[in-house]
Amino acid sequence: MNKFFLLTAIAIIIFSCAQKNESKESHSDSVTVKTDTVKICATNPNGSSELALLMRSMYSHLSAIRANAIAGGITGEYPDFIDSIYTATPTDSTMVDDEFPSRAKEYIAAVKDLYHRYPESQKQAFNTAVSKCESCHTHYCPGPLLKIRKLYIRF
Ligand code: HEC
Repeated sequence: MNKFFLLTAIAIIIFSCAQKNESKESHSDSVTVKTDTVKICATNPNGSSELALLMRSMYSHLSAIRANAIAGGITGEYPDFIDSIYTATPTDSTMVDDEFPSRAKEYIAAVKDLYHRYPESQKQAFNTAVSKCESCHTHYCPGPLLKIRKLYIRF
């Protein structure tokens, strides 16, 4: 059992490194992102900033409710830990700009909307929230994009 766990961990590490290289290449000639300032941020070599930790929690949150969204069983309330996105310190201050709060607001609005949906439209609302992760990352740091896109529900 432990061996299996270790192998999985190793596979994940290898995978995330591959992912990092891939996004570097695919964005080196892209015109849609500011390649001079864009950060990869797939893994965090300088430890964990408040914002990076929050992002991991946001990822875990969406992963945790994904199956519920598929089943139309999301109930409860918007988890307000996400509100700290406005104040969390990033790894480096150039990672956020004047547009960051409005992009963060769009994500929050999408998650709130998800918690107010009728069962049959929760899949769609879940995907809208994922699309806000995606658009923010396309703008700021493409590293986690592959991981983010895997959250989409296909239907
Ligand atoms: C408002 C813009 C924005 C939104 C929305 C956003 N991110 Fe991020 N994300 C960032 C920035 C900026 C960083 C870099 C944080 C740092 O290194 O301090 C980041 C970092 C990350 C990281 C790397 C964390 C680490 O370990 O270093 C992951 C994974 C991630 N985001 C996933 C997501 C997911 C999943 C969502 C949606 C649930 C999401 N992000 C929504 C801007 C955003």
